[in-house]
Amino acid sequence: MPTYKARLDSKLPHAGTSIFAVMSKLALENGAINLSQGYPDFPTSPRLIELVHKAMITGHNQYAPMPGIFSLREAIAEKLDRLYGTQYDPDTEITVTAGATQAIFTAIAATVRKDDEVILFAPAYDSYAPSIEANGGIPVEIEMELPSFTIDWQKVKQSINERTRMILINTPHNPTGSVLSDQDMQQLRDLTANSSIIILSDEVYEHMIYDGQKHNSVARYPDLADRSFLVASFGKTFHNTGWKMGYCAAPHELMKEFRKIHQFNVFSVNHPMQKAISIYLKDPENYEYLPGFFEAKRNVFLEALEGSRFSFIPSKGTYFQLLGYQEISDEGDMELASRMTREHKVASIPVSAFYQNKTDNKFLRFCFAKSEETLLRGAEILRTL
Ligand SMILES: Cc1ncc(COP(=O)(O)O)c(C=O)c1O
Repeated sequence: MPTYKARLDSKLPHAGTSIFAVMSKLALENGAINLSQGYPDFPTSPRLIELVHKAMITGHNQYAPMPGIFSLREAIAEKLDRLYGTQYDPDTEITVTAGATQAIFTAIAATVRKDDEVILFAPAYDSYAPSIEANGGIPVEIEMELPSFTIDWQKVKQSINERTRMILINTPHNPTGSVLSDQDMQQLRDLTANSSIIILSDEVYEHMIYDGQKHNSVARYPDLADRSFLVASFGKTFHNTGWKMGYCAAPHELMKEFRKIHQFNVFSVNHPMQKAISIYLKDPENYEYLPGFFEAKRNVFLEALEGSRFSFIPSKGTYFQLLGYQEISDEGDMELASRMTREHKVASIPVSAFYQNKTDNKFLRFCFAKSEETLLRGAEILRTL
């Protein structure tokens, strides 16, 4: 076996195996119902698969253009305009990426320099802090306020200084299921007005928003759109996370820098899938049903939990539900999640994994993008705890 014998200082000394891989492996080993990892257990659209197949057969098998095929960028621009009222130029302001994770990394690599500070809100999706650190930046983590996981904007104000390059937001929010309100967006506008702060807005769950609320995209606010990278994921929207398809929209001054990194990292993204999605995305019916579809799943899960000792605030968005176990156990969340997987055969994600310093507020995250049968079996076990 080859062995590297010289000294190697890791750029990410604290990064280990992701909690999602750890819990899914444990679920598999123990034959547990896996409500841990964030992906659906039902199939993507057969029509979309057909369109990919057709694209392959008709010869879309060589490199796509660096920013993505034009018809897809055009379809994305139309959707952003229709839903949020901002016109992005498909030529210069939209780039197709290999999932949202790549878009997030690329936006950070393009704009965050050594010792620049990036404000993010914990619990936070696991790729944010490592993406900042790998690019020499400093993550400034602000913990969200219990019990509803809201942002204390006074704390944000106090954290902003001349080294603040970026604020990273995520709405609807993984793992908590909270969403940013009109008032939150107003606070963000006030705090960043007349500054050079860039906003990175992770909106991968834009279509999973419940109880009649509207999604507060940065693209709804012209002054925020002017300073934002908006990131989205087709994997989440079309139930095919394994395809790793997404995009980024931003004003052309920001997108120009984004593409410089994209060009030398990914160059271009899977061509037949771009072709297929460019057609599928044109029909709003292919995503407008999503709030109702996932809200019904959330309700099935929560109704089946009635009478359990877990506490919860119904998820407002995403396909995640947090359950508090303060009444059930004094164990740490990691310990309890592992024990529940081994002994009770239901897997979840301990929320402390989403904090840099592993803050444990005694919450577990459950994914409800699952068949009704799986949700009912999972809830039945949880009711016995
Ligand atoms: C908040 C958030 N951002 C980004 C991603 C990554 O999306 P993609 O699979 O398109 O890279 C995820 C996936 O779970 C997520 O939950």
